[in-house]
Amino acid sequence: MKKMITGGLIATASDLYEADILIENGKIVQIGKNLSADGAEIVDAAGKYVFPGGIDPHTHLDMPFNNTVTDDDWKSGTIAAAFGGTTTILDFCLTAGEEKLAPAVEKWHEKANGNSVIDYGFHLMITDLTPETEAELPLLLEREGITSIKVFMAYAKEFQASDRTLFKAFKIAKDMDAVVMVHCENGSVIDELVEEARQAGQTAPIYHALTRPAEVEGEATKRAIELAHIAGAKLYVVHVTCKEALDEIINAREKGYDVYGETCPPYLTLDQSALAQPGFEGAKYVWSPPLRPKYHQEHLWNALKAKQLQTIGSDQCSFSFNGKKRLGINDFSKIPNGGPFIEDRFSILYSEGVAKGRISIHDFVDMISTSAAKIFGLYPQKGTIAIGSDADIVIFDPAVKREISADTHHMNVDYNPYEGWEVTGEPISVLVRGEYVIKNRQFVGALGSGRYIRRAVQPATAEQINV
Ligand code: URP
Ligand code: ZN
Ligand code: ZN
Repeated sequence: MKKMITGGLIATASDLYEADILIENGKIVQIGKNLSADGAEIVDAAGKYVFPGGIDPHTHLDMPFNNTVTDDDWKSGTIAAAFGGTTTILDFCLTAGEEKLAPAVEKWHEKANGNSVIDYGFHLMITDLTPETEAELPLLLEREGITSIKVFMAYAKEFQASDRTLFKAFKIAKDMDAVVMVHCENGSVIDELVEEARQAGQTAPIYHALTRPAEVEGEATKRAIELAHIAGAKLYVVHVTCKEALDEIINAREKGYDVYGETCPPYLTLDQSALAQPGFEGAKYVWSPPLRPKYHQEHLWNALKAKQLQTIGSDQCSFSFNGKKRLGINDFSKIPNGGPFIEDRFSILYSEGVAKGRISIHDFVDMISTSAAKIFGLYPQKGTIAIGSDADIVIFDPAVKREISADTHHMNVDYNPYEGWEVTGEPISVLVRGEYVIKNRQFVGALGSGRYIRRAVQPATAEQINV
């Protein structure tokens, strides 16, 4: 089946030009002016941007966490992602509490298989390494085409790994050219601060932010950087929120360390005052690391612009406000951590970034798609518009103004942290491997059409792949 995208302005991480795109069997086979259609279905993109599909490197769909399970599963989560312009997600496969790793991956395949409407891969999350799992890990990564391991330095009662486990993960990753993604917060210190607050009767949502100060993120970031360096491994710091952590990343990169950094839409656009709203309202904004005082935002935007941070993850981890968030109605430390961002990641970044002149259109494509593809072994199959690449494409109208609302979003939660925000631009049609998933703002995809993507390891350094 052939399709021809005509008349659009193609925007990649490096180029901006008007051309047609011919798609055959899910791949881009020709790019040029006035291509002949030859029976191809025409996709009219005149007046629109044609972007490579978004790659979201950080999602938690249908994940057990904080005594409950995230509200978006692989069906609602990937449909919402597609509406938002994302065509591939990399989700965290949880192995906590499992004696062997392979059954955990099997479980994740079962969740996604038959439900995902976009392509996907997994990161393998490690909490502990026994002699058995240590031996199993490299074999499993290779068998599954998984090129990234995730380790938490926080959530002391649930996911937190010891420094020893973290270091072992770095050593295994080094041997395999894999990358280790780390949640950098000092979980033990946070636990102590949380206990102090609870003892003092401080129960409101704002104490979530006050018991997780930026210093604990900065300290853990530095520790992760040094441990990765000793092991000679690549480090990807997830959800960077603050100057303290940024300074460590910038410093390490200046020294030539292979350290990548991700931030997320809320850290660029919302601030700590959201948690201080009256009553329980602040629970809508409880995730970790927490929102910071506003001045951190400027540091994050500047770091993105300077390519000191490379990617934007959604950290999709949704819990309804009138549902699971209420587990913490009397105690901030029991509010499930996480927010719904898979759908608005792309548009918030375009609107707050490109439309407001903070970043260029190339920076936008790079951080929303290309850099993640390079770091996680998807490039050039995904993450760009080039001959031979998968035809994962977003037709984006930059002129539309629209309001974000839980009434119209597609995520399975009853609130949106951006409720009432006006954004510029909207994904109008979204194709995955040449097939429409969203056509003229309507979902036309099929459950289960998303494919599991085996990834290739990336032996090159950050400098060599220009990220
Ligand atoms: O609060 C958050 N971010 N929830 C998801 C788990 C994590 O830390 O990434
Ligand atoms: Zn995290
Ligand atoms: Zn996360």
